[in-house]
Amino acid sequence: MVKAVVLGAAGGIGQPLSLLLKTNPLISELSLFDIVPVVFGVAVDLSHIATPAKVEGFTKDNDGLGKALKGADIIVIPAGVPRKPGMTRDDLFKINAGIVRDLAVAIATTAPKAFVLVISNPVNSTVPIVAEIFKQHEVFDPKKLFGVTTLDVVRASTFVAEKIGDLSVSTAVRVPVIGGHSGVTIIPLLSQSSHSLPANITQDDIAALTNRIQFGGDEVVKAKDGTGSATLSMAYAGAEFAEKIIRAIKGEVGLVTPSFVHLTSDKSGAEVVKEELGTNELEFFSCKVQLGATGVEKILPIGEVSSFEEGLIKAAIPELKGNIEKGTAFVNAPK
Ligand code: NAI
Repeated sequence: MVKAVVLGAAGGIGQPLSLLLKTNPLISELSLFDIVPVVFGVAVDLSHIATPAKVEGFTKDNDGLGKALKGADIIVIPAGVPRKPGMTRDDLFKINAGIVRDLAVAIATTAPKAFVLVISNPVNSTVPIVAEIFKQHEVFDPKKLFGVTTLDVVRASTFVAEKIGDLSVSTAVRVPVIGGHSGVTIIPLLSQSSHSLPANITQDDIAALTNRIQFGGDEVVKAKDGTGSATLSMAYAGAEFAEKIIRAIKGEVGLVTPSFVHLTSDKSGAEVVKEELGTNELEFFSCKVQLGATGVEKILPIGEVSSFEEGLIKAAIPELKGNIEKGTAFVNAPK
């Protein structure tokens, strides 16, 4: 059976995500960690749900973090501050970089073999931070580190289904979203959608739909009016991604999903992607990833894209590179 850990479990994402993980019958142990004591109440509340997972809450007291992480198979990290109107994900770096760094140190020393799923923003920089910390501790396994970009995929499915005019197909719609997880680095490949868009769709419609997927998070931030960003849809997306990882750990084959991964996680697959991108400069990229019991099994090619999407890829590369370098430098800069 599987032990799952949520770091930041008392938050807007953490609570519904923990609820969804508690309903996953493949999880036998669910440890919830947060710096605020309400996490104990969240754990007791969830523990009354009649599913197999044994739930326990932890704070920093009495080495709670170490206890929560001990024996973990999969660790999901939604710890950190969310956006307010007018903020970009990069604006969160100042606070969240340190939070993620400290949690990564704890994972490196306590649960270095676990799968790590990073939700905390800016994902384009926080994932490199975790990688650098793991490298420093000589425990970095690129196959097991994932930036969770699933919300972009979920949004793409929903918005395409809306365009088709039939929300009932939304769970079946598959649109690969590659690149990264912020603004222009989010690259939905609508030309590869599993479901065709209406025949009368114009290039302007495609551009508008692309923009809506890239900036869908802003719709939520605006509607929540200063009280936070996407939490419920993110919890859904995070639980969906975690479930895929757990099914892969359990031996299911052929699971494919986009995720922001280190390009050494599958060197030969990454070579093809780098060639398609026309650059060797990116250390991380959100690719279509085939999962296996040990994590990233294969990085799949980007495949054929439209000329519009080619333009999106070109526009994303410099920003993505800067975001990645910012995360790396945060860990490695001389103190
Ligand atoms: P929130 O503020 O509601 O919850 C964050 C939780 O983290 C709080 O309970 C807080 O006590 C906890 N926390 C803070 N420092 C911690 C530490 N050192 N260790 C453990 N827990 C700690 O925020 P929300 O809305 O849950 O968002 C969390 C993060 O997820 C934000 O960075 C947000 O930008 C990001 N996010 C990512 C998305 C994605 O697609 N990857 C989508 C939406 C949000």
